[in-house]
Amino acid sequence: MEMHRAKVVQKLTLVDIDTRKQNLEAAGYNQFLLKNDAIFLDMLTDSGMNVMSDKQLAAAMTGDDAYAGSRTFFELADKIKEIFGFDFFLPVHQGRACEHLLARVFVKPGDVIAMNYHFTTTRAHIMLCGGSVIELNLPDSLDNSSANPFKGNFDLDKLKALIAEVGPQRMPFVRIEAGTNLIGGQPLSLENIVAVAKICRQHGILTVLDASLLQDNLYFIKVREAACKDMSIREITRALADEIDVIYFSARKLGFAKGGGICLRSAELYDQFKELVTLHEGFLTYGGISITELASMTQGLEETMDFDMISQGPQFIAYMVDELDKRGIPVVKPAGGLGCHLDARAFLSHVPQAEYQAGALSAAIYLASGVRPMERGTVSEARNEDGSEHFADVELVRLAMPRRLFTRSQIDYAVDRIHWLFENRGLIGGLRFVKEPKVLRFFSGELAPTSDWSDRLVAKYKADFGDSL
Ligand code: F0G
Repeated sequence: MEMHRAKVVQKLTLVDIDTRKQNLEAAGYNQFLLKNDAIFLDMLTDSGMNVMSDKQLAAAMTGDDAYAGSRTFFELADKIKEIFGFDFFLPVHQGRACEHLLARVFVKPGDVIAMNYHFTTTRAHIMLCGGSVIELNLPDSLDNSSANPFKGNFDLDKLKALIAEVGPQRMPFVRIEAGTNLIGGQPLSLENIVAVAKICRQHGILTVLDASLLQDNLYFIKVREAACKDMSIREITRALADEIDVIYFSARKLGFAKGGGICLRSAELYDQFKELVTLHEGFLTYGGISITELASMTQGLEETMDFDMISQGPQFIAYMVDELDKRGIPVVKPAGGLGCHLDARAFLSHVPQAEYQAGALSAAIYLASGVRPMERGTVSEARNEDGSEHFADVELVRLAMPRRLFTRSQIDYAVDRIHWLFENRGLIGGLRFVKEPKVLRFFSGELAPTSDWSDRLVAKYKADFGDSL
């Protein structure tokens, strides 16, 4: 049951399927290029979409607006110290700004950055600095038939083998991603984090935690890790943070606000980062974030320590996953954080991966429902250097669940339309690029259907639903 109530609402509109088809064509079959007016339920991302609490909005009004020396900044830095135990905090405009600065400070050409799994912007920044990324995920991390509750865990043997092979001098840090985004928001256990940190310490390698999706991960540690069931969220957070050298996060996710930040323990490192923050982000007491958002972030981080406040997201996701699973629809299991993830490769097994199964299914979901999902498959990958396609390990369609935003009946609607699509999946075909940017092509690339499948899908929809939208 949701332990909150709505205080402010926004009217939504649901346009008819012909309009949805026109919108999709105008957007080059790319969900990022749709205008929000065209969307009924926006499940593209949780980033910056989480609903703020009354206390966060109230805090925003009390923000101390100053270019330098704002009281609001020091309150946030104190909250970071209280929760994570880190002495130094640098605000930056969002998560990828942290990644930019971390890569600039730590990564040299030829370096190897190990992580449980990559994230798009993280990898791009590391590669721009001449480094490469090695994923050390578990053998069953992408296997939907495995019930492993912590599929985000590192494979510790792979980590030891990599250090032996590459040598610690070429591994400036190991990146630990909480709530592993691209494998379906799957968490790591506290036990695994402790073990990774121990191995890194033995070799003098820093540990960097990407805490953007930490809040869902904290929930899963509490409910799935037997040794932690009697610990408070605050205790789990501290136990985890105590193992780590550097924490960074997107506050568009962690803290229900906007912005981001880097938490450091050493004054020496702080001095190195300081210069880059003032150069690329803004002065040290705002870092490119508005003061109102800094104030909301402080309150949002405090609320993240409240089990009631962080339960709603994972519980709604589990509900949606169960409802789809009951209908035989292939979903990532067990349910993770961030959103519900459909396995597009299984859903559209008749479409070749070269025709972007996850992209095609995302487009079909928008057509059939006005719900906007996000493609997380081959479209989100970059081509190989020789221009050939780099096929993603998994073709996922993410239905993100911004925290505290949707109602159960809205989830039921989405489930109902996805079920209809599943029964008519044979009608869905593939996509091809018509405009393909070189960097992060998924954001602005344009695609088109490989046949007239979208016309046939619309015709079947009208035959089944009549005048209904
Ligand atoms: N790290 C993780 C794990 C993320 O999920 C994101 C963003 C970032 C870093 C970058 O943060 O967007 O504030 O610059 N994920 C968003 C998403 C974009 O939709 O999953 P950012």
